[in-house]
Amino acid sequence: MNTLLNKPSLIDPFGRTVDYLRLSVTDRCNFRCTYCMAEDMTFLPRQQILSLEELRDSAVAFVELGVQKIRLTGGEPLIRRDILKLVSSVAALSGLEELTMTTNGVYLPKMAQPLKDAGMSRVNISIDSLKPDRFKELTRVGELDQVMAGIDAAGAAQFKKIKLNAVILAGFNDDEVLDLARFAVDRGMDISFIEEMPLGEISSHKRVNTQITSSQIRQQLDSEFTLVDSAETTGGPSRYVSVANSQSKIGFISPMSNNFCESCNRVRMTAEGRLLLCLGNEHSLDLREILRAHPGDTALLKSKIVAAIANKPERHYFDPEQVDIVRFMNMTGG
Ligand code: 5AD
Ligand code: SF4
Repeated sequence: MNTLLNKPSLIDPFGRTVDYLRLSVTDRCNFRCTYCMAEDMTFLPRQQILSLEELRDSAVAFVELGVQKIRLTGGEPLIRRDILKLVSSVAALSGLEELTMTTNGVYLPKMAQPLKDAGMSRVNISIDSLKPDRFKELTRVGELDQVMAGIDAAGAAQFKKIKLNAVILAGFNDDEVLDLARFAVDRGMDISFIEEMPLGEISSHKRVNTQITSSQIRQQLDSEFTLVDSAETTGGPSRYVSVANSQSKIGFISPMSNNFCESCNRVRMTAEGRLLLCLGNEHSLDLREILRAHPGDTALLKSKIVAAIANKPERHYFDPEQVDIVRFMNMTGG
């Protein structure tokens, strides 16, 4: 029964309602961002990745349990074959209010309009530098031009809102905070500045040397923009401000310097079907095992999800000196 009067919800032991699922559709990516991946990553064999049907069945179970927002992530979700089929079947689920995607933008020139037509309401595009050489260095392979073309295509497709995401690394791209903000504001887009998290062992830099806090980033922005605090939150470690005299909002995602876990409303599912209750903890439930042993048994899947939510940790503890979480971000997506 999924009527308005009897709307189910997932509530954890700390009273938090989980109404947001981030669903990773692949661990693969056409980029190799230094903060996200090691240079020589091995990716999961295909049979370990959830099929489109398994992804859709998982989405059905979560939406029936009261999830209102789903974000498709990767790796890079647009390299998943038949992604549009998944998008249209998930977008059509009754009870789902928003379907969004995080992408590096490369395939948007071809995919933006089809995604919009299939029911995607918003996209987040990652862009950490506006300098082609630096962009290449950071992504190891990325061409800035392609991402720019992707941003333009998303703009032309008229999504409800386009948000840019920038991970800021001290000493690397912290001198581009104002340029990135201007770039977003000029286009009427939102932008979020993200603190780097110690997920996965990387070789390119020591994360402890590149830490910069959201409040340091905000200080830079205050020198040029009038930022108006807003009550808006999407749950989890993000806060938003509006930029006066513009259409844009600026987000600060502060998993390191601030702990907003008390308002966390989300869970994540990895591309291989592990339900992660918190990005900063290893607790997980193997949903793939259930999906494969009992295909189509939504009731069973739902009961396992409900039971798992009882183990959602109260908060995360990240230490930039140490990698406690061995999983890389491409397993879970942003
Ligand atoms: N810390 C913070 N953000 C990360 N992302 C990837 N790895 C990390 C990390 N270690 C971000 C990307 C993108 C989204 C997929 O997650 O920049 O915006
Ligand atoms: Fe790919 Fe995003 Fe990771 Fe970069 S941060 S390697 S674009 S998944």
